[in-house]
Amino acid sequence: MIFMGLTKIHIRLTEYLMVLNRILRDTAGTFFSRQWKQTVKENIVPVEDSMLPEIFRIQAEGFKNTNREKIVRYSNSFRKTFYVIKEQDQVAGYCVYYLKLSLSSGGFEKQSVISEIAIDKNFRGRGFADKLLKESIEEMKINRVSSILLYVNIKNQPAINLYEKFYFRKTKEVKNVCGPGETCFEMGLRLV
Ligand SMILES: CC(C)(COP(=O)(O)OP(=O)(O)OC[C@H]1O[C@@H](n2cnc3c(N)ncnc32)[C@H](O)[C@@H]1OP(=O)(O)O)[C@@H](O)C(=O)NCCC(=O)NCCS
Repeated sequence: MIFMGLTKIHIRLTEYLMVLNRILRDTAGTFFSRQWKQTVKENIVPVEDSMLPEIFRIQAEGFKNTNREKIVRYSNSFRKTFYVIKEQDQVAGYCVYYLKLSLSSGGFEKQSVISEIAIDKNFRGRGFADKLLKESIEEMKINRVSSILLYVNIKNQPAINLYEKFYFRKTKEVKNVCGPGETCFEMGLRLV
């Protein structure tokens, strides 16, 4: 009986912490967005609401566990770091980052996390993800982001190859971040 009570409290606490984390993340997004410097990029634009249906379709094509709500939230709070690549007016893919402050030995620093990157199946293998990463990483540097973090399923070799091409390094293996029961690599890229 006591055990069940404690379990319920634990679940509630975890839920509250997740909501708090989300609020903090969105607030940070609004704060960073205000001063974000955008570079000129050919065929890459910040997300617009009219693109969301196409993005949902590409997300559903690319991931087993899809989360439309996250796309909507990030398109509001992290619009400037929600990069959409176009090919002749069509949405070919997207890469969305959120920004956060992280504590290091040198004090607080700006860190970004690649939340999702996906390319329309019909456009894969043509360098679209490569271009999205190249241009967005350049913009991260200009905005003094010190490092980029991401999580990738250990079975997702195309994505691991893509990140390694940009010198991301595997830092550890973690469970249940890429989906229930799944294992993924945490990968990081130091920019400064
Ligand atoms: C991973 C993904 C984004 C790659 O997009 P893409 O536009 O096809 O990739 P690019 O053509 O720009 O290729 C860039 C690099 O990625 C790697 N890569 C891409 N597709 C690959 C494949 N099928 N097999 C092995 N490596 C591959 C290669 O290193 C490639 O560089 P190279 O052409 O010099 O060999 C795409 O396959 C996708 O949308 N997958 C589903 C969603 C997903 O898994 N996202 C990553 C979540 S962490």
